Parts: sequence; C-alpha cells; structure tokens
Amino acid sequence: MLELDAKIPNNVDLSTDRKLQRALESWQPSFIDWWQDMGPEGFQQDNIYLRTAISVEPGGWANFDYVKMPDYRWGIFLAPPSRDTIGFGDNMGKAVWDAVPGDMRKELRRIIVTQADTEPASVEQQRLLGKTAPSLYDLRNLFQVNVEEGRHLWAMVYLLHSYFGRDGREEAEELLERRSGHADSPRILGAFNEPITNWLDFFCFTMFTDRDGKYQLAALAESAFDPLARTTQFMLTEEAHHLFVGETGIGRIIDRTTDLMQQDKNEDVRNLGGLPLDMVQRFINKWYSLSLDLFGGEDSSNAAAYFALGLKGRYKEQGGRYEDHVALEQHYTYDVVEGEKMAQREIPMRRAMNLVLRDAYVEDCERALRKWNSICKKKGIAFEFTLPSERFHRGQGVFSATHFDPSGNMLGNDVWQAKRDDYLPSEHDVAYVESLMVAEYEPGKIAGWIAEPKAGINRQAFDFPYVRFANQE
Ligand SMILES: [Fe+2]
Ligand SMILES: [Fe+2]
Repeated sequence: MLELDAKIPNNVDLSTDRKLQRALESWQPSFIDWWQDMGPEGFQQDNIYLRTAISVEPGGWANFDYVKMPDYRWGIFLAPPSRDTIGFGDNMGKAVWDAVPGDMRKELRRIIVTQADTEPASVEQQRLLGKTAPSLYDLRNLFQVNVEEGRHLWAMVYLLHSYFGRDGREEAEELLERRSGHADSPRILGAFNEPITNWLDFFCFTMFTDRDGKYQLAALAESAFDPLARTTQFMLTEEAHHLFVGETGIGRIIDRTTDLMQQDKNEDVRNLGGLPLDMVQRFINKWYSLSLDLFGGEDSSNAAAYFALGLKGRYKEQGGRYEDHVALEQHYTYDVVEGEKMAQREIPMRRAMNLVLRDAYVEDCERALRKWNSICKKKGIAFEFTLPSERFHRGQGVFSATHFDPSGNMLGNDVWQAKRDDYLPSEHDVAYVESLMVAEYEPGKIAGWIAEPKAGINRQAFDFPYVRFANQE
C-alpha cells in the first residue's frame, strides 16, 4: 500500500507496524537536525524545483514541484518483488529471505551500514557548493542530489530499524554522528572524507564516486535478503540522475573549453576564463583513483563469502552478463607488485569478486570518456582524455605501497614527488579552479567556464527559474 500522506511517506505498510513506525518517527527529528546543520548551507528557506518519489512504478514515480528542502518528503520505497529464488552462490535456487538469517546478521549489518554511511557523507562534502553554482539549473541539480542522498539514508535506516533491533537503532544514531573529514569520527570510506570545494570536484565526484555507488547498489540489488535487494533497486533509479549530473557536467566543461580553444588557437584558455583540458584530466585522475579504492581488496575472503552466501552478487548477475552463477570453476588473474617488479597472481574467481564488480565499473567509465573525447574530436581539438592505470595513486590494495605514473610505470619516491603535480591537481590548479567559482543565480545565465546543458529538467527550458529565492519573493 502507498502511504503518501503519512508523516513518513512509504510503500512498506509502516502504519501496520506501530513499533517500527514509532522508532522511525523518533529518528526523524535527529535527521532533520542533521540536515539543518550539515545539509546545503544558506538555501534551506528557498523554493527548489525538485522531484519527489511518489511511487515505484517505472516512469511514473517522480513528481516535480517547488519544495523547501527541509520540507522534502523523504520516504521509504521498495521496488516491487522481482524474484522468488536466490540467483547465485551456494544458496542458488532456494527461496529469497524476508528476514535476516541469524548467522548472517553481522555481515549484513556491516554491508548496510557501509552503504548507508556514504549517503550523509556526500551531503556533508557538498554543503557549501550552492554558494558558487554556475547556474540555477546546476544549483537545482546539486540540491536534487543532496535530498536524494538524504532519502537513501532513510532507505538504509529503515532496514536497520526493521531488521536489526537495538543494534540497528544504534547504528542509525551513529550515522548522524560521524562527519565527513572529521579527525575523530570520520565517515567509513576514504573518498567520502575528501573535501569537495569546487564544482569540478563535484562533477568528478558524481561521475566517478557516485558511480561506484551504482555498482555497489547493483550488487546488493541481487541480494538474497529481499528487502535489501528491493530497496537498492529503487535507489538505483534515483542514482541514475546523479551520474547524469557528473557525466554531463564534465562534458559541458569540455564543450566550453574546446569552444574557447577554437576561438583562439594560440591563447591559453586561462586567459579566457576556461578550464584547461589537462587540468580537467588531473581532477579525473584524482577522483577515479580514489573511487577505485572503494571496491576493496583484490583478493578478498569477505567478497568470496558474500557471494557464496548470496549477500552480494555481481553487476547484472540476473541480467545476462554472466552464465555461470556459482563461479566455482574459474580463476581471475591480476597484476601485483613483487619487490621492484610487476608479477601476476591467480586466485579463485569468488575471491576476486571486488575486481569483477570493478571491471564493470571501469567499462562504464571508459564509455563516458569516449563520449568526452568525441566532443574534442568533433571540434578538431587534438586532446584525448584517458583513465589512469589501476596502479596509479592507490590508497588500497596491492599497488598502495608503490608509486606509479598514470600509464602504470613504477616510480621512485623522488620522481613521484617531482612529478606529482603533473598527475594530480596542484595547489595552483585548485586555486585557479576556485577563482572561477562565482555564483550565477540569474535564470538563463551561466558561468563562463561551462556550457549550457542540452536540455533542461523535466522538459523545462534552461532559463526556467529552477530555484526561487525566499528573499526575492
Ligand atoms: Fe546515494
Ligand atoms: Fe548518489
């Protein structure tokens, strides 16, 4: 049943479970406090043209209207059941679970908390960006991403409250206590503690880091724990917009820069207020490598166990990407560092499930790069964006103890220090990017470093007033 007018909109029959309803209603004020403290700073009274989930029907779930962000209807929505039996691992063919099996409580809680923690983290990371939005269209997209990350937190907290008793309620409290980048109580995963101080960071984050989220959610959407599978399934439909914002955001920067380059072939685009392509590449290098770390270790007994038990599948496990859903026969070969040299190691496929998921992610990133490169090509600009080697700038896994250049060549510490600023954003790069970050709040206008989008939101024009400021009404 759809309970849209309830205090907590939902399609999980919350009103029939008084205890759960009370628990969630008592968490709600803490969430709103957190949102007021750590959500977008300075825009809480403004009317934003936002979409709100009102059902889970494909194509018909989104309602667009002006909303003040603290009044956003954060709801709990599960996609309709799509399968009765487990689709992979040792339990394949058995019935999916409607409750948490006692012996998998710890693992499932850890999986859910790790996912949940990223949702408020990204809102915290992005909280100051509204002050420098390049257009009202972008400002609105930022806030759409923010409120939906808030809803994703609700989705995960629902699972914690419903299925994990007191432990789950405690975890839900802690999700509002940790803070991105905090020295004593940081967020769980590395990339979610990195500051996001400008819109190039934001677009790279939504392109590369949110995209890790897509693959993690897709793996959980295969889960034998049915409520988790159906929750993450619906989150994926919202997530698609976040990835769109990132991918087209970088595309629009490239579009603008290449326009400026065409205007004057000899001119440094910096003199024209543009973002040089090589600088964009350095930001890509940073966020792509940070995001690869999120997939976890190459050889992972946890990943093997999650797959065997049916907790976490592969990307499109049921979507025709794989024929063998047991994965006991194959092996996976990957690169490692041995002393000063590169070598290879072969492990059973199940232990390599983090890499298998990451491979699907990398393919997706490569697709986006081809799109960006076609923008350069069409305009006759000889520049090609590349994804850095998986070895480059890693904080996790077999490459994390050694320096490599973006092509994957091993570097000594001295060379790395000398070359670092060729590969990653330098202080100068960051200062330059930030010098361009001046807000443009006039409908239909846009900052000089980025091109207009091809289309507006919900078939509105680009000059639609996507944000109505309270002080102008
Ligand atoms: Fe999310
Ligand atoms: Fe997201």
